[in-house]
Amino acid sequence: MNTRTLIPGIKNASSEPAKGEQRCPGAPSTQDIVASDKVRAPGWVRSESYQFLGDQDISKDRYIDPAFARLEMDTLWKKTWQFACREEHIPEVGDYHVYDIGRFSFIVTRVAPTEIRAYYNACLHRGTKLRASGTEGNTDEFKCSFHGWSWKLDGSHQETVCHWDFPHVDPKDFSLPQARVERLGGFVFINMDLSAPTLAEYLGPEIKAHFDAWKLENRYIYLHVAKRLPCNWKLAIEAFMEAYHVIETHPQVAVSNGDANSQYDVYGEHVNRFISPLGVLSPHLYGKHTEEDILKQFTLGDSGALGGGERSLGKNGSARQVMADMFRGMFEKATNTDLSGVSDSELLDCYSYTVFPNTFLFPGISLPMVYRFRPDPSDHRKCLYEVLFMRPVPVDGSRPMPAEPIRLRDDQSFCEAAGMDAGFGAILDQDTDNLVLQQEGLEASAKPGITLGNYQEIRVRHFELAIEKYVKPKA
Ligand code: FES
Ligand SMILES: [Fe+2]
Repeated sequence: MNTRTLIPGIKNASSEPAKGEQRCPGAPSTQDIVASDKVRAPGWVRSESYQFLGDQDISKDRYIDPAFARLEMDTLWKKTWQFACREEHIPEVGDYHVYDIGRFSFIVTRVAPTEIRAYYNACLHRGTKLRASGTEGNTDEFKCSFHGWSWKLDGSHQETVCHWDFPHVDPKDFSLPQARVERLGGFVFINMDLSAPTLAEYLGPEIKAHFDAWKLENRYIYLHVAKRLPCNWKLAIEAFMEAYHVIETHPQVAVSNGDANSQYDVYGEHVNRFISPLGVLSPHLYGKHTEEDILKQFTLGDSGALGGGERSLGKNGSARQVMADMFRGMFEKATNTDLSGVSDSELLDCYSYTVFPNTFLFPGISLPMVYRFRPDPSDHRKCLYEVLFMRPVPVDGSRPMPAEPIRLRDDQSFCEAAGMDAGFGAILDQDTDNLVLQQEGLEASAKPGITLGNYQEIRVRHFELAIEKYVKPKA
């Protein structure tokens, strides 16, 4: 991977910058901003990993052709590591959680205190699902509701009802087939491909180290909202991969969002990220707002739900520093921990990571969230989107149960989900409004593909290259 440090607005001495090297002119880079912070950011923040990956258009067929969606189901979803549930969904032996992906379905279950398995959710008699989709519970056997065949928690065959009629059924050969399972940071990942690389290999050593630094296993889900979105799953996930749309789609947050000078990185084949610095003015708005305006917007817009209240600029006049100090104090109080060594960037900035294909992590402290995206198996123009908000587990060591998902109807606003911050819900509604227009627009368009920016939209291209790796159309 080509890793380099770039100075924004500075061209190579003798020639135009190479493709992909241009950055927002006249604006500090994310690294410049982070380097000026009072409390130094960790290494995983203070690094860059951009790579130019081409500038050809991406065919729109990937988003609008039902045959392509079928191909995805038969190829990439069968070969990739997917976030199936969190460990806290199945804390006790016998707990299970059904994870559905397209027509596939898995019973993810804890068979021993330290062992989790994922069984194909189908009876080996005549195929009935052993547990209904989307369900969870605790059991010591998986019994089919049709004729009563059953399996033990460890997947071995327990009973063939009227075994005298099935002399050809050897219980030894009738254990429940399994997908692979790996755990990382409190997430349970599964992969149907028994010869796939390990999850650590799939992520690459650098990203495994990022996971290890985040300690997401020490968080729990306090709010879980699910909604069907009116677009292909890739349009949905790719809409969250860039801050390029912030100034047009979410102008209400641009005053305190370094959108055009966000940093974009790619890692190997399956992971990419951006870092969007907050508490700084959007380069689109330079000359139009003061530091006081940034602080005011941030205080009203982003920290209201945290009880931040109004603040004033200190001696150094930096809204970003005032906000970092304020967030540190609020989170210290809320979590009863000493955060003096936690960097300003971790407290403030928006880090967003995609783990191909369905996982989208925000491992920061002020906005710790996880998104999950899955295609709707009945309609390639729809997808299932979930947002899981996470908090540190209590200092007394107890592990709260994860929040039950709130399932919104298609016509509901995200703001209607109980517990959802109104400002954040409005942002998701703005994104949803665009997505329906984008799906319909691609179908209406005379242009055969989408055109991407070399830097700000590199994550979209990187994701589509991963799609290409797994989806191999028949010649
Ligand atoms: S289909 Fe499951 S027992 Fe018959
Ligand atoms: Fe957005």
